[in-house]
Amino acid sequence: MTTELEQLRDQALSDIAGAEDLQTLDEHRVALLGKKGEITARLKSLGSLPAEERKSAGAAINDIKRTLAQAIEERREALQQQQFAERMARESVDVTLPGRGERPGAMHPITLTRRRIEALFGQRGFEAVEGPEIEDDYHNFEALNVPPDHPARAMQDTFYLDAGRLLLRTHTSPVQIRTMENRQPPIRVIAPGRVYRCDSDRTHSPMFHQVEGLYVAPRVSFAELRAELQSFLEAFFETDLKLRFRPSYFPFTEPSAEVDIDGRSLGTGAGWMEVLGCGMVHPNVLNAAGVDSQRYAGYAFGMGIERLAMLRYGVTDLRQFYNNDLRMLAQFA
Ligand code: PHE
Repeated sequence: MTTELEQLRDQALSDIAGAEDLQTLDEHRVALLGKKGEITARLKSLGSLPAEERKSAGAAINDIKRTLAQAIEERREALQQQQFAERMARESVDVTLPGRGERPGAMHPITLTRRRIEALFGQRGFEAVEGPEIEDDYHNFEALNVPPDHPARAMQDTFYLDAGRLLLRTHTSPVQIRTMENRQPPIRVIAPGRVYRCDSDRTHSPMFHQVEGLYVAPRVSFAELRAELQSFLEAFFETDLKLRFRPSYFPFTEPSAEVDIDGRSLGTGAGWMEVLGCGMVHPNVLNAAGVDSQRYAGYAFGMGIERLAMLRYGVTDLRQFYNNDLRMLAQFA
């Protein structure tokens, strides 16, 4: 091999080894082995050599050609591998890093209030039970001493389903009936849940929540009802309260009362605020549900959870509970 060829080979090998990226490497490949490349040109010029030199010169050039082709191939693989490793390093994700500070969720204020009511009544021996939100006319009205033509039905703007046979319960009172149908006294339950009325403004929502209370035993007095509600409301609002039991009317209780809180004792200013309805369970209701009204008496009460939550948290528009505005909800986190 001539020194000139050796120099060409060594220069080419050092160029190839020094190529830092695939594009540079390919430029070297074209310059050496391409159609107009240096090695190609030498192969082409073999024809002009004297016949006796042609063979050994051809073998030497072809030898270099193979050496360079192999060197290019090896360099290409090395560069590709390096490129891949760099990309993996760049794109790798450290799954052990902590998150980017997503805010934790929080209980909805109505859920908080419901749980608080359940806990306070739990301490007073009331078990929480549930009933269906889709009710039949019988449990929502008739068994509660509200016959078909009773004017009290018009008071509750009912959402009817299934041509009037089924409805969305307008109060939690049907759970009184379902509980008495399935249990024998003594019964001491609360029934929290959703109720529905066709009504919507600052203080009314078509869906809202109530908690029903029911106590049935051999001897139950209105005095016990008063004491229990006073104790619950004072525990709920964490302060002594002035209550007013105002005579009222519900078909399913007799006597009946509505309970008002003196705004001054809550710090919300003067004026009475109605918070719940209650009374002694009407004998017709006990009998309809299979409880002997000669042997047992009962009291019942029903309160709006939104109403209690508004008073406790100072919310003035009921609809704020259902706008899903995080500025509102985050305050309860
Ligand atoms: N169900 C009544 C209402 O929705 C409340 C109530 C419950 C009254 C139990 C008396 C006894 O207004």
